[in-house]
Amino acid sequence: MKLGVNIDHIATLRQARREAIPDPIDAAKECIKGGADGIVCHLREDRRHIQDKDVYRLRELPTRLDLEMAATDEMVKFALKVKPDYVTLVPEKRQELTTEGGLDVVRNSKKLKPIVKKLQDKGITVSLFIDPVAEQVEESALLLARFIEIHTGTYANAINPAKKKLEYQKIGTFTQKALLIGLKVNAGHGLDYQNVKDIVRIFGIEELNIGFSIVARSVIVGMKKAVEEMREAIK
Ligand code: PXP
Repeated sequence: MKLGVNIDHIATLRQARREAIPDPIDAAKECIKGGADGIVCHLREDRRHIQDKDVYRLRELPTRLDLEMAATDEMVKFALKVKPDYVTLVPEKRQELTTEGGLDVVRNSKKLKPIVKKLQDKGITVSLFIDPVAEQVEESALLLARFIEIHTGTYANAINPAKKKLEYQKIGTFTQKALLIGLKVNAGHGLDYQNVKDIVRIFGIEELNIGFSIVARSVIVGMKKAVEEMREAIK
């Protein structure tokens, strides 16, 4: 299973003081040294962490770049300029602390169809961040997206063991369903050094996208080591 490291919260720290440090690009370089297969960042409408120039600079690194973004005209225009390897389309609300739940691709199908096509026609692989729900997986295939990223946050945050088990089963079931109908599957959100050990047992997930837990760990042991430890956890 591959590991994409989301470095948004390096930029969160920088923006807390509007300083030039810590530089997310330096952090990304350390992630690569630690064994990350790719770098992920989310350019939000309110630019609360990652800034436009960060994305351009990340693009220069010799690694795969996955740009998370909302499905808006502004972001599509930006993505077509930067040309990341991947775009992951996510829902976005101004007030949220982090992405809350998957994109409702069923409800937004009409709007998403031309966006997915426009990006993929320019050679950008599109992934749709969705909840593990049958209709969402089916619609993602109809939208001709190459990938889905299954939202693992509900599973990760569940405290009740029965609910946790159910959420875990849903991730497994809908990974298999997605593979059967021709989608490739990534997963992410809320994954840490412990719960990731269960997720890696699910057959067919191509890549995990992990941010917060790795950045938090990096404060203690450094970014390269934090990524190495996550690599070890998902082995
Ligand atoms: N995948 C997506 C689509 C996300 O929006 C995020 C958070 O930015 C992540 C993965 C990583 O989540 P976390 O920071 O909880 O590891």
